[in-house]
Amino acid sequence: MNPTQENQTPHRPLRAVDIIIHKRDGLELSREEIEFFIKGYTSGEIPDYQASALLMAVVLKGMNDREATELTLAMAHSGEVLDLTLIIGNAVDKHSTGGVGDKTTLVVEPLVAACGLKIAKMSGRGLGFSGGTLDKLESIPGYRVDLSREEFLEQVSRIGIVLSGQSGDMDPADGKLYALRDVTGTVQSIPLIAASVMSKKIAAGAHTIVLDVKTGNGAFMETLDEARKLAMLMVSIGKLTGHKVVALLSDMNQPLGCAVGNALELAEAVETLRGAGPEDFHEHCVVAAAHLLVASETAKTLDEARKIAETALQNGSAFEKFRTLVQAQGGDVRFVDDLTLLPKAPVIQTITALQAGWIAGVHAREIGETVIALGGGRAKKTDSIDHSVGIVVHAKVGDHLNAGDPILTIHARNTAEFEIARERALAAVTWSDQKTGALPLFYGVIE
Ligand code: URA
Repeated sequence: MNPTQENQTPHRPLRAVDIIIHKRDGLELSREEIEFFIKGYTSGEIPDYQASALLMAVVLKGMNDREATELTLAMAHSGEVLDLTLIIGNAVDKHSTGGVGDKTTLVVEPLVAACGLKIAKMSGRGLGFSGGTLDKLESIPGYRVDLSREEFLEQVSRIGIVLSGQSGDMDPADGKLYALRDVTGTVQSIPLIAASVMSKKIAAGAHTIVLDVKTGNGAFMETLDEARKLAMLMVSIGKLTGHKVVALLSDMNQPLGCAVGNALELAEAVETLRGAGPEDFHEHCVVAAAHLLVASETAKTLDEARKIAETALQNGSAFEKFRTLVQAQGGDVRFVDDLTLLPKAPVIQTITALQAGWIAGVHAREIGETVIALGGGRAKKTDSIDHSVGIVVHAKVGDHLNAGDPILTIHARNTAEFEIARERALAAVTWSDQKTGALPLFYGVIE
């Protein structure tokens, strides 16, 4: 028996409350129900409280691949769906499922654009404990994340790269749902994450998509098994909707790179674009870029693609592309050329090791949540954030530290907040008197 509501009560007019009840009771939602709900929520006819209830029902009861694909399509079609084929041919994109210290987009997108790919990306804001690309970019005064459809298209055809938020025109359903999920405890759901990511990709006209699916205590998918399921669902939505999707499974048990916090992460991304930056983050970006170059058939092998990417980082072309992007979106490029101009917190203090030992863990989620408590993220949809605050983690799992070596630098608004963050961040770092192994960067690839 097909348990969809469509088959059970075919003649009743659709009502938001019934759809919530169906999902609460574990029924499969029909395409009509999903489309009705998404349309109603986007237009404002269905209020936040009903959308929150449905989101929670999905978190608890799940969705099958068909429902998730229909949710993706309903969200993508809640606004304009761009067709980029006439403007740039095969549009490529990369998207991360979110993590702590994950500033990969800021590097990988200009890097592959410098290698000749055209990138038109819609990014998000911070979600739960994970940071958001738009918040990081807004550390640059003037940077606009609200491009209209016309501006989005004009920019990608002119300079080959655009990095904007969901405009009112594109995937408005995700724009609203994303912010609502952030503050209603409804982020952790495989179908909701898959639909959120894939609807944005489809609406922005991408054909070839590399997904960075994070797993670990600082990711929405804590276990490798859950991350693999999310990756497989997104690859399957890609197939069902005619897109080429490659998903990388990557580690998020410790922050990626060193910096966590908006302006701090922007600065680390710029350093990486200049060919430096922390080793793990540099390598992560090169691997993601290499997959994009191969998936888009710009390079034949990952080895060849890596060389192309490394060259663009070392010869300055990736950084130059980022400058061009910042200028095109109204950002003051002096803040990128001179990172000391970026917002700076009044209290900046480094905590050092009291004794020697090996680092056994740096709990990514705890670090992410500490940065939110410092003011770097949101507790409510309407909260503003402080771009200057954050934590720089100097030690990686597997490192050996001597007494006096730096562990963390905390950037806070005042000493009271510094003290709270210090306690919490130090508790997130665990030690061993035995040698510990480094964590892998990647766990596999799903195509
Ligand atoms: N990234 C997204 O775009 N959406 C989610 O739901 C989670 C991560």
